[in-house]
Amino acid sequence: MGTTTRLVCRKMTIDDAEAVAALDLKSFGEIDSWSAEYFFYAAQNERAEFLIVEDNGKIVACAGADIFTDAAEIVSFAVDPDRRNQGIGTKLLETLIETVKKRGASVLILEVRPSNKVAIKLYEKFGFEIVDREENYYWDEDAWIMAKEIF
Ligand SMILES: CC(C)(COP(=O)(O)OP(=O)(O)OC[C@H]1O[C@@H](n2cnc3c(N)ncnc32)[C@H](O)[C@@H]1OP(=O)(O)O)[C@@H](O)C(=O)NCCC(=O)NCCS
Repeated sequence: MGTTTRLVCRKMTIDDAEAVAALDLKSFGEIDSWSAEYFFYAAQNERAEFLIVEDNGKIVACAGADIFTDAAEIVSFAVDPDRRNQGIGTKLLETLIETVKKRGASVLILEVRPSNKVAIKLYEKFGFEIVDREENYYWDEDAWIMAKEIF
C-alpha cells in the first residue's frame, strides 16, 4: 500500500522552530539562513505571521511576513528542496497573502536576489512587480524589492 500524502498548512509554533531552521538552512545555506532562535521568537511575535506546511507531520515548507500598519513584508519563504516544483510554494504564498490581508495589510513587499530566477518567476505569477533595487542587501548581491497591492 502506498503512502498517503496529506498536506496541512497551519500557523508556526515555538515547537516548530528547530525543524523550520533546519529547512531554512537546507534552502539558503549557513550565511543566509535564520537561526532556530529567530523562528522561536517569530512564532510568538504578534506583528508577524508565519505559516508552515506539513506532510504527515514533517515540515516541508515555511513562509513568514512581518506586519506593519498597512503593509507586510515577506521575510522568510522556503520549500524543502526535495518537494519543490510540486505547487507547495504557490499554495503557501496564496495562504500567506490571504492571512496578511486579513491582518489589514494592503501592500506586500519582499526582497529577492536578482539571480533567484525561480522565485522571481513565482512572484511575477502572483503579480508582484520590481519596484526598487537595494544595493548590497545580501553579502554578495544587491536585492530587488518587489511589491504587490493586496486589497
Ligand atoms: C521559490 C520556492 C519557494 C518555490 O517553491 P515551489 O514549491 O518549488 O514552487 P511551486 O512548485 O509552487 O512553483 C511555483 C512557480 O515557481 C516556478 N518554478 C518552480 N520550480 C521551478 C523550476 N525548477 N524551474 C523553473 N521554474 C520553477 C514556476 O514559475 C512555478 O510556477 P508554474 O508551475 O505555474 O510554472 C522554492 O524554489 C524555494 O524554496 N527556493 C529556495 C528558497 C528561496 O529562494 N526562497 C525565496 C527567497 S526570496
